[in-house]
Amino acid sequence: MKCLVTGGAGFIGSNLALELEKLGYEVTVVDNFISGSENNLKDFKGKFIELDASKEFKLDGKFDVIFHQAAITDPRFGDDNETIRANVDGFKNILNLAIKNNAKLIYASTANLYGNGPVPMKEGQEKDIITAYGKSKLMMDEIAERYFDKMHIVGLRYFNVFGPREAHKGRPASMVYHLSRQIKGGKNPRIFKGGEQKRDHIYVRDAVEATIKAINAKKSCIVNVGTGIATDFNELIKVLNGALGTNFEPEYFDMPYEQKTYQGNTQADTKNAEKFLGFKAKWKLKDAVKDYMRWLYG
Ligand SMILES: NC(=O)c1ccc[n+]([C@@H]2O[C@H](COP(=O)([O-])OP(=O)(O)OC[C@H]3O[C@@H](n4cnc5c(N)ncnc54)[C@H](O)[C@@H]3O)[C@@H](O)[C@H]2O)c1
Repeated sequence: MKCLVTGGAGFIGSNLALELEKLGYEVTVVDNFISGSENNLKDFKGKFIELDASKEFKLDGKFDVIFHQAAITDPRFGDDNETIRANVDGFKNILNLAIKNNAKLIYASTANLYGNGPVPMKEGQEKDIITAYGKSKLMMDEIAERYFDKMHIVGLRYFNVFGPREAHKGRPASMVYHLSRQIKGGKNPRIFKGGEQKRDHIYVRDAVEATIKAINAKKSCIVNVGTGIATDFNELIKVLNGALGTNFEPEYFDMPYEQKTYQGNTQADTKNAEKFLGFKAKWKLKDAVKDYMRWLYG
């Protein structure tokens, strides 16, 4: 089977491309390196093409499945109009490519579009758009819905993904990554005052599994990709101390930006992913963090 992975030099995209290759798929990766890193693809043997999915491009080859991961992924990118233009135009171009190839399209949406809505977050609940990034992904979902009965199209609302090959993201990398770096540097891990904000942290190996399962989704759909479990930052620091054999206390600080652009709690309702993709996250946070710390620090 021939696959295209857009944004394949990025975090989830590179893990996905490597896993697809391991499973025997013929994989082509495209990326424009706006946030991705060549280093993520050092073990990738397939074809790589540098291109901007949001502009006009020509791509030879026939694809059976297209995984669209490419997007401006920093919710604080700084140019809201460009975030919306690049993410929506990129999606439209890739959708057209999928139609032309008669390919299945699996694309990355986000849990960011639930904002500070009620938890556990259900796909059908009212959206709470707090960033241009979330808005761009909701616009993609709305376009996708118009194609549900015309093609195989699956949107994946990833929650907080963490794991190997995310370091290039800098500030938008996961809290698991950032807090571990602080601990390894001998500093107290810094979190917002109280530390009670909760996240549905999902290991990238699980996120990749959900993404591949979407190839055989029962029907076109948009589903959450999370664990269904929310963990607060105080607890996350305990898990990290356990994995790293340390005993650091959190250092609390005031949130530097407006509270309303920050998601207080995230937690996925996972029923639809189970029902339509047959996906249920396997990795427990403790085991995933241990596995990741071994990968990062040996
Ligand atoms: N990591 C998470 O926790 C998370 C959560 C929700 C949704 N997502 C979504 O998953 C996808 C992958 O995110 P990630 O965490 O791997 O981020 P990432 O920034 O590491 O990866 C995105 C990749 O897309 C590339 N890219 C961006 N715009 C492009 C364009 N126009 N043309 C070609 N390449 C382009 C970047 O260079 C980068 O390599 C994104 O669509 C993101 O919105 C991620």
